[in-house]
Amino acid sequence: MSEVAERWGSRRAFIMAMTGAAVGLGNIWRFPYMTGENGGSAFLMLYVIFVLLLGLPVMMAEILVGRAGRRTPMQALSHLALENGHSRHWRLIGLMGAATVFFILSFYSVVSGWSFEYMFDALGGNFTGMSPAEIGGSFNTFLADPFKVIFNHTLFMLLTMSVVAAGIGSGLEKLNNLLMPLLYLLLFVLVGYGATTSGFTTALAWLFTPNPAAIDITVVLNAMGHAFFTLAIGACALMAYGAYMPDRQSLPTAVIAVACLDILVALLSGIAIFSIVFSQGMDPASGPGLMFVTLPIALADLPGGNIWLGGFFLLLAMATWTSSINLAEPMVAMLQSAGLKRGVAALLIGVGVWLMGLPSALSFSSLADWTPLEGKTFFDLVTSIPTDIFLPLGGVLIAIFATWIMDRQRAFDALGASTTLCRGWLWVTRWISIPLVIIVLISSLWHQG
Ligand code: TRP
Repeated sequence: MSEVAERWGSRRAFIMAMTGAAVGLGNIWRFPYMTGENGGSAFLMLYVIFVLLLGLPVMMAEILVGRAGRRTPMQALSHLALENGHSRHWRLIGLMGAATVFFILSFYSVVSGWSFEYMFDALGGNFTGMSPAEIGGSFNTFLADPFKVIFNHTLFMLLTMSVVAAGIGSGLEKLNNLLMPLLYLLLFVLVGYGATTSGFTTALAWLFTPNPAAIDITVVLNAMGHAFFTLAIGACALMAYGAYMPDRQSLPTAVIAVACLDILVALLSGIAIFSIVFSQGMDPASGPGLMFVTLPIALADLPGGNIWLGGFFLLLAMATWTSSINLAEPMVAMLQSAGLKRGVAALLIGVGVWLMGLPSALSFSSLADWTPLEGKTFFDLVTSIPTDIFLPLGGVLIAIFATWIMDRQRAFDALGASTTLCRGWLWVTRWISIPLVIIVLISSLWHQG
């Protein structure tokens, strides 16, 4: 139960690790399709508000607990609680986080597997000469093929868990630091391409013209859940990374940098994808296939388009790789503190998550008609409930812990910022972020029931 001695090599390394966790499918795949299903600008506006009012304060709270405790999440929580005369049961937040990421990683791996398939397809020139309708059709054909979908899911789990087994600092970060700027560059290129299409102005208007009339409790709940998902908070995954944060570094500065980049990547992806959607007359609310259908339509017939498209899916797979390594961390940390070796923990989790991913993988083929709740498939449920309910719930408990349970000076020290900033954080977290999450969660439960 002693403190960890390792630190990320530098401040920059810590920011890179957080960015690796934050930027992933959430920004490039989930953000556009959720925006499409939730009325465009209404969702975008709420998402930005939630990132600012909830995301930033809760992200600081989560990381500072890890940094102050310098232990795995459950140990850090119980240590800091006991230290201030509270029950060690606060560590159950860590257990809930581990359960939440278990479900999230299970579909995350399946969808990352789709990117693998698309990378190979693009590089093989499979999309060349296809009409938009054929490209749309080929996505559905692929999803209906359980063998291919499960094969790619397996491949992705193997890649993720082998890095997890090796532990942080295995060199993947370095590769990623090198490659991620290329992904951002490519997104700029895609936006540039979008600007040449007929749908560009419609896309901008649809994304940025305020449309409060489209807001209802579902849109609010979805936007809140997405803010947590995209910032990688609410499940103690960043808490685990916080334990290794260098001693002299301002947490608010680091968090703000990561959140800005995270929003930027989502916006670029949204603008590029919706330009294509509107120039092709597609439905913005076409669901999880949105990115996989629009990008090949745009790129396949351009000169060198296959290479661009293949490169895009390769970089996307890299981005999701570092996110899924972060998703696995709360589970590994938990099993490690229960006394298991890292390799064994990684193996057990890998097998468990792989199995849990199977019903998602089959939700578009043999299990397409299995709709356990309100006509939703297993995939629909596993992509919404853990994110929309359990991440905010975990986040609010972490925020309560950091602002009401932990020793105040200890929290401020771990924030590593000026007293004014620390006081500001404390006030916003206590009186804005915490009540806001509770109100949204309760009103949506009320609405469901
Ligand atoms: N933020 C990542 C994305 O946008 C997903 C993710 C990584 C995550 N780590 C997490 C979500 C921890 C919740 C909790 O793709």
